[in-house]
Amino acid sequence: MPMPDDDAPREQGLLQGLQNYGDRDFSIYMRRAFVKSMGFSADELERPVIGIAATASQFNPCHRHFPELTEAVRRGVTAAGGLALTFPTISLHESTLAPNSMKFRNLMAMDTEEMIRAQPMDAVVLMGGCDKTVPAQLMAAASAGKPAIQLIGGPQMTSRYRDDRVGACTDCRKFWVRFRAGEIGKEEIEAVESRLVTTAGTCAVMGTASTMAAISEALGMTLPGTAAIPAVHADRLRAAEATGAEAVRLVRGGLTPDRIITAKSVENAARVLLALGGSTNGVIHLAAIAGRLGFALDLHRFNELSDTTPVLAAVKPVGTEFYMEDFFAAGGIGAVLRELKPLLHLDCLTVTGQMLGERLAAEQGDYVDRRVIRPASDPFESQGGLVALFGSLAPDGAIIKRSAATPALFETEARAVVFTSLDDMARRVDDPALDVRPDDILVLQNAGPRSAYGMPEAGFLPIPKKLLAEGVKDMVRISDARMSGTAYGTIVLHVAPEAAAGGPLGLVRTGDRIRLSVRERRLDLLVAADELARRRTERATLATDTPVRGYDRLFRETVLQAPQGCDFDFLTAQGR
Ligand code: FES
Repeated sequence: MPMPDDDAPREQGLLQGLQNYGDRDFSIYMRRAFVKSMGFSADELERPVIGIAATASQFNPCHRHFPELTEAVRRGVTAAGGLALTFPTISLHESTLAPNSMKFRNLMAMDTEEMIRAQPMDAVVLMGGCDKTVPAQLMAAASAGKPAIQLIGGPQMTSRYRDDRVGACTDCRKFWVRFRAGEIGKEEIEAVESRLVTTAGTCAVMGTASTMAAISEALGMTLPGTAAIPAVHADRLRAAEATGAEAVRLVRGGLTPDRIITAKSVENAARVLLALGGSTNGVIHLAAIAGRLGFALDLHRFNELSDTTPVLAAVKPVGTEFYMEDFFAAGGIGAVLRELKPLLHLDCLTVTGQMLGERLAAEQGDYVDRRVIRPASDPFESQGGLVALFGSLAPDGAIIKRSAATPALFETEARAVVFTSLDDMARRVDDPALDVRPDDILVLQNAGPRSAYGMPEAGFLPIPKKLLAEGVKDMVRISDARMSGTAYGTIVLHVAPEAAAGGPLGLVRTGDRIRLSVRERRLDLLVAADELARRRTERATLATDTPVRGYDRLFRETVLQAPQGCDFDFLTAQGR
């Protein structure tokens, strides 16, 4: 590090972003004094600084291997001539946050963005894994504008429960449904509980975490071939080391995320999401990432992509057999990208400086297990796994995961059974007196982003116990909530505008008729306009929510709707 009296100001390394005391030399002197206290040699202090956004937390079981992974990144940075400085950020885990992790994705994105910008680093390695961490970091990196590379934590390995191969968390739900139906007892569900998650890493299926890992690689923000490596695989450590080294090269090339995350690469990522039958949450997160750079993930365009993108992978909850470790062994994201090649924009830069097309050309001929990843000429489904619906019940759109739904329910007109809130649903759904039939449509209101619940993964509405006892396995369920990427069923989500923002979903009453047509991409409330107008007036007179404070208040006042990615309005490229 140069002495304070060196002539030219350096806007790199540890001398960038100095505190302003009104005396630059004093600022340098102070920073040097403190940095020296960490015992770095003079040589180390001259190196490009690579920040490592570390998200190990004992509240985040999915990241329990991150300390070892961080050491591997540091090794890579050092070997490539950089100085690795690890810094903590907020870490988010699905099951340890109340009211839900989505509520804090934007907080993590703000924390990460500001720390990347405020601290003296030349590039950053973003270590993410559990569902909301990767989108939060990509949103942050897009806004912070410094060179960035993502390292994915990787999925868990599967485990065994008696004769079953099990993995979190599609199987979690499968066993829970059996428990609710009375097929298995308390002792057995407790035994299952100890078998579902047995290694470090993210959920073992194509849930939100693995979907976002795939999206990150498809965007070009990870090293090629690294998104799906299992958390405990030795390749994961090698990927971490290589990611650290690549971060140093990134500094030299000055490649920033805005040159990698473009309208074209977002479309590529959407194709991959569709080809994987990935998590519905991926649509929200991709829209939020795109919004950080000033473009939208238009849901009409999304449907065009869906209609022309085959489903190529059958990893649970799509299919019944394969898990992420199988997907990795089968060829991973690279195999999917190669099959999608004619549909992709190949002139997209990736974090290595290669174009996507160059990457895929170099991988031609790599092994693919066709039981798990099909060729485009013989796909599992000829059209994408997700579809956006529009209509009088969802003027701005809603999402259904058709690849995890029951085709017999795709064209349905039926009576609505409405729950006005999550609390209402919890109170009544299992009431034997509930007036509900197998061919009804269950509707949950007030669970969207602006609701007090902050858009939880409650869209997987439980089937009423009395119907479960009759053997009902699936029903059409509609809400403004989200659904875990590990869930399945004929479930319509993200209805926009949400009920709490005045959307028509809030006007539905039990007994109304609703029409769902996946073929026509429609979701309609079959109620006369004058009756809806009457209900709207009635709703306007209802008391508003209790005022809230702090982050909760910021969230409720600034969160955007699902089609805009549920980002805060002032964090998008345009600002509020
Ligand atoms: Fe972390 Fe599923 S709970 S990825």
